[in-house]
Amino acid sequence: MARLVVVSNRVPVPSAKGGTAAAGGLAVALEAALRSHGGLWFGWSGKTSTDREIEWLEIRDFGNVTYAVADLNRRDVDEYYTGFANRALWPLCHYRLDLTDFSRKDMAGYFRVNRSFARLLAPLIRPDDLVWVHDYHLIPLAAELRHMGVKNRIGYFHHIPWPPADVLSTLPVADTIMRGLAAYDLVGFQTSYDVENFTGCMVREGFGRALGNGWFESYGHRFQAGAFPIGIDTESFVEMAVEGAKNPIVKRTRESLHDCDLVIGVDRLDYSKGIGQRIEAFSRFCEMSPSAKGQVTLLQITPKSRSDVPEYATMQRDVAELTGRVNGALGDVDWTPIRYVNKTMNRNALAGLYRIAKAGLVTPLRDGMNLVAKEYIAAQDPNDPGVLVLSRFAGAARELDGALIVNPYDIEATANAIGRAISMPVEARRERFQSMFPKIRDHDVSWWCRTFLDALSQDESAIPT
Ligand code: G6P
Repeated sequence: MARLVVVSNRVPVPSAKGGTAAAGGLAVALEAALRSHGGLWFGWSGKTSTDREIEWLEIRDFGNVTYAVADLNRRDVDEYYTGFANRALWPLCHYRLDLTDFSRKDMAGYFRVNRSFARLLAPLIRPDDLVWVHDYHLIPLAAELRHMGVKNRIGYFHHIPWPPADVLSTLPVADTIMRGLAAYDLVGFQTSYDVENFTGCMVREGFGRALGNGWFESYGHRFQAGAFPIGIDTESFVEMAVEGAKNPIVKRTRESLHDCDLVIGVDRLDYSKGIGQRIEAFSRFCEMSPSAKGQVTLLQITPKSRSDVPEYATMQRDVAELTGRVNGALGDVDWTPIRYVNKTMNRNALAGLYRIAKAGLVTPLRDGMNLVAKEYIAAQDPNDPGVLVLSRFAGAARELDGALIVNPYDIEATANAIGRAISMPVEARRERFQSMFPKIRDHDVSWWCRTFLDALSQDESAIPT
């Protein structure tokens, strides 16, 4: 079996004491894939150094996985991560042209850091390695590695949405980004919608030709693109939720609710998540249903994120103000409609909270997949499951059709869906759960890794003539 080299901006290096680093679904998934293949995980250490250039790597072995991470200096972090990745590509891919900042300095920094990463990574790659690059921070990496003579098969997975041609073409370096993607052997997206958008960008904007069957020819290179919807580690999340119900945080939450029904939302503090619209919808639901007063509580768990990006700092203030306003207007001495928590919750407690929540609100304005939606379903008690209210603009809505699918911009309709979810009879809830659970069980994270890596290992005889 080929050795796997995973590259991502964030790398969850296990602690020296032997514990694993705090890890989200993706990190857990990639860790499992790396352990079974043996391999190397390369990326940013998450630390900002005072050195002038990225020149050295910290390399550590844990079992059969080698972690190789580099610090970035202040300027690199500002231009590559905070700047181009999170103020240009992120809002662009989430259709938020109003929030993009196409600074030339940041663009240069983004390509410079990718070149530096390639310089550090190239000598670590062995001839038979499969290289798998993750997410929008690292699009130009394959092209840089190719310049340095790396001939391995290199795949890229885009975890966030891919925008339509009219949106992409506002980016001043759209051609360099498309050329960057064309340097890979396989480009993976979350859904067939993203693949359609990508095909539109490639063909309509004249960056390349579609050869059929997902193959493209662009800038003299042939490569394949396809949809590989990411999953969760379903089996272990189910176990975690059963155990999590006994977690002290979950017990305390349950006691503190008395007879109130719990509705839950869990998102990084990000404008793509539609948190403001969700709070408005919950508030509308409380106003519309007199019986909700004192009977339903929304627990919104929202760890702060990317606070150095000005748009995130603004949003932080807006959501806090809105929550305060709603609680002030609707709450009572013995009832707080919205409990708003700005911290990271341990995954065991989180799984338990999902299990006791009558409804899960996953209402992003745009999202690549959204693994919270899948985790919420996995955490339910099959005999008495809660109901998922899911945005049609999350990639997960393509698979989870047993959810109440909403347009999160439509506050009234989302408020109605919350009401329906809370009062749904148990038979209907079971039926919805049973229509979704087998999908997330069968298409779990190992299935995702396997299908992507099988496609990446495929030789070029599959290219249509
Ligand atoms: C999204 C992106 C990931 C990113 C994560 C957290 O899920 O797709 O690539 O790591 O957000 O964001 P951060 O900027 O903290 O790494």
